[in-house]
Amino acid sequence: MSMTQKYVGTAQRRVDGHAKVTGGARYAAEFAAADLLHGAVVSGAIARGTITKIDTAAAEAVPGVVKVYTHENRPRTAWLDSSYRDDVAPPGHPFRALHSAKIMFSGQPVALVVADDFETATYAASLVEVSYDAEVPKTDLDAQKGQSYDPPKKRSGVEPPPKPRGHAEKAYAAAPVKVQQEYRVAVEHHNPMEPHATTVVWDGDGAITVHDKIQGVTNTQGYVTGVFGLSKDKVRCISPFMGGGFGSGLRPQYQLFLAVLASLDLERSVRVVLTRDQMFTFGHRPLTIQTLSLGAEPDGRLTSIIHDAVQETSHFEDYQENTVNWSGLLYKCDNTKFSYELAKLDTYTPADMRAPGAVLGLYALEAAMDELASATGVDPVELRLRNYIADTDQNTDKKLTSKALRECYTQGAERFGWSKRDARPRSMTDGRELVGWGMATGVWEAMMQKTSARATLTGDGRLEVATASADIGTGTYTILTQLGADALGLRMEDVTARLGDSSLPYSPIEGGSWTAASAGTAVQMACETVREKVFKLARQLDGSPLANQDLDHVTFRDGRIVVTNDPSRSVSLIDAIKSSNEGKVEAEETAAPSTIQARRFVSYTHSAVFVEVKVDEELGVVRVTRVVSAVAAGKILNLKTARSQILGGVVMGIGSALHEESMLDHNIGRFMNHNLGEYHVPVNADIGPIEVIFVDEPDDKASPIGVKGLGEIGIVGTGAAIANAVYHATGVRVRDLPITIDKLQ
Ligand code: MOS
Repeated sequence: MSMTQKYVGTAQRRVDGHAKVTGGARYAAEFAAADLLHGAVVSGAIARGTITKIDTAAAEAVPGVVKVYTHENRPRTAWLDSSYRDDVAPPGHPFRALHSAKIMFSGQPVALVVADDFETATYAASLVEVSYDAEVPKTDLDAQKGQSYDPPKKRSGVEPPPKPRGHAEKAYAAAPVKVQQEYRVAVEHHNPMEPHATTVVWDGDGAITVHDKIQGVTNTQGYVTGVFGLSKDKVRCISPFMGGGFGSGLRPQYQLFLAVLASLDLERSVRVVLTRDQMFTFGHRPLTIQTLSLGAEPDGRLTSIIHDAVQETSHFEDYQENTVNWSGLLYKCDNTKFSYELAKLDTYTPADMRAPGAVLGLYALEAAMDELASATGVDPVELRLRNYIADTDQNTDKKLTSKALRECYTQGAERFGWSKRDARPRSMTDGRELVGWGMATGVWEAMMQKTSARATLTGDGRLEVATASADIGTGTYTILTQLGADALGLRMEDVTARLGDSSLPYSPIEGGSWTAASAGTAVQMACETVREKVFKLARQLDGSPLANQDLDHVTFRDGRIVVTNDPSRSVSLIDAIKSSNEGKVEAEETAAPSTIQARRFVSYTHSAVFVEVKVDEELGVVRVTRVVSAVAAGKILNLKTARSQILGGVVMGIGSALHEESMLDHNIGRFMNHNLGEYHVPVNADIGPIEVIFVDEPDDKASPIGVKGLGEIGIVGTGAAIANAVYHATGVRVRDLPITIDKLQ
């Protein structure tokens, strides 16, 4: 098919950019409704125990308070565990707010105060008196790791650790060069700018429209219909925009449940917004204790890789991540062994956070590889090339759809100026600052999920492409607009993308970096069907200049279907559409990963991250002054939004390496720095130049449109590259992130 791509593969501004900076884009807490009520959540004060008394009289006496919900008076719902359907719930029992007097984590919601306005609800919530029978919480992973266990059930999408290969322990014992270290990354919270919020609009007759902060409206819809026993036609979910998600919006959170509960009970519209400190009461990157043992020949060739991880989960769900698997696929090694265990803590269930598992696992592996480089005296890039594996995933023995990681190393190193590095620690300085250069590898899965999309060409010659998927800030609206415009030869201004509405064709949550490949392919397919249909109409027009043409010999261009080698013969799309009975041409298609390919191939994105740090030893301050991230991710649909994804990932990696840390007080089992004053994230002054390289990586198997996905690869490896650069600058190996001032003393 002759389909020229004018927009795909170029740098395009976000089509939703104007709406976002002018307030035209609406977020969950911004949707209005007549007679809207406001709910404020009362957070529990203990981490483990039982509510013995809850006194709501003072709150109820405040003028303007409509009702206070607690576990004692909450209305009946479906209440069965199995009704709490959640597309990404780990094995176990999803948290059920106000279900009983039992307290399972600090900050657990114990009451919802509903009032005429937000201020009244918030004030009245402060008057709710709760008495507890408190138990000593266990939140210290080091103390609990002896109680750890192998996850009993495989969570869908998460493979158990790969089986051992060869004889890892024997090979390690015999290895001439050994590295064995423990690595940690602090607990992190996602902290999106937009807090979690839900506005439920009571439409009458038991029907509701739910505006929810979620990375996929179908998850919200399935959850609400399951929990409250409603049919799908009574629950429409809408989430066109998100002010950041990073995984915190993959699962329905308790404000959704509480808002729907109150709305159905009161038959009124209700909004519930969580406060910033309540954002620390659900889901976090899990604390993980990892041990990496590398055995190698003196020339750096790996003879043994042993990677063990103990990760926290809650008492009610077995949250799991791919943490150790990466060590089995990235480097050539015949003797490998992996273990992955969970330990239950009195905290909320951890949650996927940008590149879950890979951020942690690649930090440990790539920090250990840097230690191996030091131990062998082999340059870190050369060490990775000596252990390079070109086209196979050793964990599964499947072929890779493509792998341009070698080009990431060479192009990244070239751009960074890596060859000028003096390998000796503390050898490079800039004035009174030590300079360190470090690097690391990144890898992430390239996935596709079954997704449907609709394309509609209307009588005014405009195209709408639509799917229930989301744009969590990644640029989905824009890439779908580009794909639609190119498929039908329209200007981007003539194309509208619609997302985030459960009444649109089915899509799973936007996560795992799969949306561009999945929704993109679905839109492409729907547009191809529209092409065929509208071409057929054009050919059938009376005296059509296209009468004897076939689709392969015409071009869609400037709103017309043109005979490719005789441009004087053409039909306008508008004339063709007019001739249809419906006055429009529409098609819906479903994209799904090919099962044959899935059996034979696996697909990953890769990156090589090069980092310069400058360290003021007197002050202990580390600054990341330069980053080059070279990424291989198949076809890049939009050079601008793609680059932004990598920039965001790198910035989050800088946060992970130097700033972010949720601190638990084990005496009370609570995250204490639950605000943006004390939970540090990088600010503009922390960020120097970040250069992004997309290496060429043709791939016709990762997805039909050649796309692998970019949402997560930018963060993977960045933490290790920074830690390795800090070692190069200072000679100090810090093996628990973040690298704060105290750890460099
Ligand atoms: Mo991502 S952690 O799948 O939003």
